[in-house]
Amino acid sequence: MLIAGNWKLNCNILEACNLSTLISNHLSNKNLNCDVAIFPSYVCLDSVHKVIESTNINLGSQDCSTYNSGAYTGDVSASMLYNVGCKYVIVGHSERRIGKLENNQDILLKAKNVLDNKMIPIICVGENADEREEGKALEVIKRQLDESVPQNITKNNCIIAYEPIWAIGSGNIPANKSINEMLNMIKEWLSMNNKDINIDILYGGSVNKGNALEIFSCNNLGGLLIGGVSLKADEFAEICLMVD
Ligand code: PGA
Repeated sequence: MLIAGNWKLNCNILEACNLSTLISNHLSNKNLNCDVAIFPSYVCLDSVHKVIESTNINLGSQDCSTYNSGAYTGDVSASMLYNVGCKYVIVGHSERRIGKLENNQDILLKAKNVLDNKMIPIICVGENADEREEGKALEVIKRQLDESVPQNITKNNCIIAYEPIWAIGSGNIPANKSINEMLNMIKEWLSMNNKDINIDILYGGSVNKGNALEIFSCNNLGGLLIGGVSLKADEFAEICLMVD
């Protein structure tokens, strides 16, 4: 089980160091029954790595380039992220799929780069409100999986995150029944495609300490991808400590 904190476009270096120090203070000397990872912006990765390197918290990046090196101004490669101490890289977050027009082929390339550099991609999938309303959610997610998940993935090298777009930052979360339905479909997809069915599947979208316990009761849940609340050290740590 992984509890991942996606800080998005928040925190300068000082704030990121303070936040990671606070989270690690909350979690140090605690019996953690899950893996914990935080995902600061690129410029804060090195400083945060120094804060958490001897703690029980891991480092991840929010994205990486589709390229490995070369004339790609502004990009950051997977190997650079490995070099700075990342264990995980989020790829295909809906804020990049929509805001930066990334498609499934881009996500697939990114996920492969992450795997090639000995890190774990967290491949995000999710439907928008219209797709859910029209009863197309399962079909949309299946297509994203077909086109953005690499061949040789196992529980040890890859994670999938189900994040319904309409639930992100909105305060609306799906009923456990529909989270379960999606988690089961993803498991089925893994099985039909001869992939490791034990791959962790995270849920993300408006998770907080008030709804986390309920979400944890979903069968087949492999963890949580938390945005807004991951910027609140005490609440994020409290959710990590709820895992039994
Ligand atoms: P949220 O974001 O928890 O603020 O809804 C989740 C995410 O975007 O990963």
